[in-house]
Amino acid sequence: MTATKFAFLGAGNMAAAMVDGLLAQGTVAPADLACLGGGGQTAALLAARTGITLAGSLPALVAGADALVVAFKPQQLAGADPQLATLTAGKLVISVLAGKRPARLAQTFPLARAIVWAMPNTPARIGAGMTPWCSLAPLAPADRATVATLLAALGHAIEIEESLMDTAAAVSASGPAFLFEFAAALRDGGVAGGLPPETAKILAVETVLGAARLLARTGTDPEELRRQVTSPKGMTLAGLGRMEARDFRGTLRETVLAAKARSEEMSRDT
Ligand SMILES: NC(=O)c1ccc[n+]([C@@H]2O[C@H](COP(=O)([O-])OP(=O)(O)OC[C@H]3O[C@@H](n4cnc5c(N)ncnc54)[C@H](OP(=O)(O)O)[C@@H]3O)[C@@H](O)[C@H]2O)c1
Repeated sequence: MTATKFAFLGAGNMAAAMVDGLLAQGTVAPADLACLGGGGQTAALLAARTGITLAGSLPALVAGADALVVAFKPQQLAGADPQLATLTAGKLVISVLAGKRPARLAQTFPLARAIVWAMPNTPARIGAGMTPWCSLAPLAPADRATVATLLAALGHAIEIEESLMDTAAAVSASGPAFLFEFAAALRDGGVAGGLPPETAKILAVETVLGAARLLARTGTDPEELRRQVTSPKGMTLAGLGRMEARDFRGTLRETVLAAKARSEEMSRDT
């Protein structure tokens, strides 16, 4: 019998993204994965859809797993089953819970061999995520490899110092919302200029997508790519002038710092 490699406690959107990504990459087989939810149907549905094991109990879920992936809601950590303390003895625990720092996780998983806190974002659902992560203590190479395998299922990942997690999350976890707001504003600008809403929408969406792909593929600084679009006395310069006059950069800077401040605040509520 194949040993379960990853056990998912919580089987909602984020767990499903990880399971789908792992299976799509072929790095693990359905038999290597197990899940358990709360009182609802998500775990049964995930197991039925993907062929992974639906665990009958918490001990059954954790037994035989190399790593426990904690993917329920952050507010459910306080009421988590106390059995988890002993069940996770010697295991690698990887949490994706927003705002729950490794030291807080260590209260629930005091005997774990290693504790990792990762903050995925919503593009992870299509394998295009960006996940900053940190650990309570330096990881053994094998655990680092396990974390890399799991997070690669969601897209890109980057290890950072814990003290930088709030800022990183403000950029990458909240960032998609800021970009969606930008896309909506670009669309609305088109509508204000007389475009039919559907035309404005497709122009805005494909432009955001194409520009982001160009940025990623070339590795060129955004300022340089902006310069390449901007001719002297041209239309783009006229638009950029209005962005500057309204301090677009300053607004985005404050946006990121406000998200960071809120993340710090939420981390203090255990
Ligand atoms: N969605 C994102 O983009 C995103 C990004 C970064 C981090 N996260 C983090 O990912 C976590 C999960 O988010 P989500 O969007 O996947 O939530 P979700 O879709 O609402 O799923 C929550 C899951 O937790 C299960 N659950 C509830 N109570 C439980 C318990 N006591 N023990 C075990 N499982 C329990 C639910 O099972 P039942 O159906 O049985 O109730 C469900 O499977 C959150 O902590 C969030 O902070 C999410």
